[in-house]
Amino acid sequence: MSDSDLTRRRFLQAVGISGGAGALFATMGALELAPANAATPSFQAPRQSDFHLTGRAARKVVILGGGIAGLTAAYELGKAGYDCTVLEARAVTGGRNLTIRGGSAETDLDGHTQRSTFAPGNYLNAGPARIAQWMVTLDYCRELGVPIQPFVNANADALIYNEGGAPIRLRTAKADVYGYVSELLAKATDQGALDSTLTAEDKQRLLAFLEDFGDIGEGHEYTGSTRRGFSRYPGAGNDEGTPLPGPPSLSDVFASNVGHYFSGEFGYDQAMMMFQPVGGMDRIAAALTAAVGRRRVRLGARVLGVTSRASDVTVTFRQAGRVQAITADFCVAALPPNMMARVPHNLGANVTAALSSGFYPGPAGKIGLEYRSRWWEDDLRIYGGITQTDLDLNQVWYPSYDFHAPRGVVVGYYNFGEQAEAYGALTPRARTARAVEQGVKIHGERYRSGLASAFSVAWHRMPYLEGAWAFAQDVNSYELLQQPAGRVYFAGDWLTNAVAWQHGAFLSARTAVTAIHRRVLAT
Ligand code: FAD
Ligand code: ALA
Repeated sequence: MSDSDLTRRRFLQAVGISGGAGALFATMGALELAPANAATPSFQAPRQSDFHLTGRAARKVVILGGGIAGLTAAYELGKAGYDCTVLEARAVTGGRNLTIRGGSAETDLDGHTQRSTFAPGNYLNAGPARIAQWMVTLDYCRELGVPIQPFVNANADALIYNEGGAPIRLRTAKADVYGYVSELLAKATDQGALDSTLTAEDKQRLLAFLEDFGDIGEGHEYTGSTRRGFSRYPGAGNDEGTPLPGPPSLSDVFASNVGHYFSGEFGYDQAMMMFQPVGGMDRIAAALTAAVGRRRVRLGARVLGVTSRASDVTVTFRQAGRVQAITADFCVAALPPNMMARVPHNLGANVTAALSSGFYPGPAGKIGLEYRSRWWEDDLRIYGGITQTDLDLNQVWYPSYDFHAPRGVVVGYYNFGEQAEAYGALTPRARTARAVEQGVKIHGERYRSGLASAFSVAWHRMPYLEGAWAFAQDVNSYELLQQPAGRVYFAGDWLTNAVAWQHGAFLSARTAVTAIHRRVLAT
């Protein structure tokens, strides 16, 4: 092998595409361990030509709820000329797809009204904020012309904070945990602890991997590495920088529990790259609404009752103080299950029971804290990403848009369960005070002094939603509501295996649309 071949090989190894790895990957592909693609379930939108070919006319459909599922049902049915009307109780479409910007106002079930004073361009995605690459949500962004940009879901320079300690960078925590785990596994391998599982060749390969994975050295010891980061990064000439002191002992690293914070990055729905629409998540709802046609969407229209008969279905609703009714061929009920459970209907007691006790709507809360400067970029050199903590604020998110702008909105808490209940029970002002009090522990006094404004959402206290997401509690309820009840088809992320993701709302709408269209074409 020539010098230039060797140099090329080292270069490829350095960037992680060495011949060896490529060959192994091809072998895994042959074993079907590495999927060739990750397509969403196939879907054929109804077409005008389906009716021309069969001589049937498109039908009328009334859709309850103008969230992502309801809007998508109207959008897809509309492609074939179905006459759709969407009834949405709130003053805007989108449902949980909610972006707060300057001028946004919300009144919660406790009567607290907030009005956002965020500066132009600043926003809080109070509900959905991130989209994985495989999600059908991105296909809709493409189809609807909604531009997207990267969402920084993991950032080596973001922090980990455990109460009472000092914040550390994610990169430092990872270097230490991977280092010590590699040390232990390499020593165990060398000492024969895995001899009954591994061949001699496997052991050599595992040791080679661990050396690299943990950056361990002589005798498989982990003694720290530049992967931990520097207190002063390398500079010009002979300036090699000042590596961070450490590492702490193996025992201290595991006692700190930092490894617990890595798992999010591994999830099939949370791994980088992730994306967000440019300008706010509600760009998706706005684009869907425009594609459906504003005249087909009735806002401030609260559904009061549903009556399904042999040949049609009637929905009553109140809009602008007047009770009205729409009779249609079919209905798509795209309300959260806890909300649909309260709508009087004639679909059967088993449907009511499934809607009310078959699904549990969970609490979640988020607060947007707008700062007069982007100190997390200017001082801490954190550009997007998430700081994870054991505080009741749970996480702090740094914005993944408008880097270097004069101001920015940090997500000051994003929490669930009891933590979300605790914050949700406070007034908005008290939530801000508590979030800031906690955040000061990580970021210091600037977290208080630099604050310009705040806006918080407690999802379980939001009218017409009363929960962040609803998980099925029993299989029978889940299966019952997958079926139509008379002429009513249910839709929403809660009827999918992608609960708490718009992906689920899109897919469930597609399922309802396909079922209705098949029924129409079959009769
Ligand atoms: P909804 O959005 O709940 O729509 C239901 C609609 O019905 C609402 O508009 C409501 O106002 C209306 N309604 C209720 N009662 C009535 C009535 N009586 N009459 C008329 N209308 C009524 N997804 C992602 O893709 N990425 C994320 O990062 C992400 N993070 C999230 C974080 C949070 C905090 C939350 C709350 C959600 C998150 N999601 C995320 C999930 C995503 O928001 C949902 O999956 C999706 O928006 C659900 O859409 P839907 O149409 O099924 O329901
Ligand atoms: N899908 C929700 C999120 O990513 C839970 O935050």
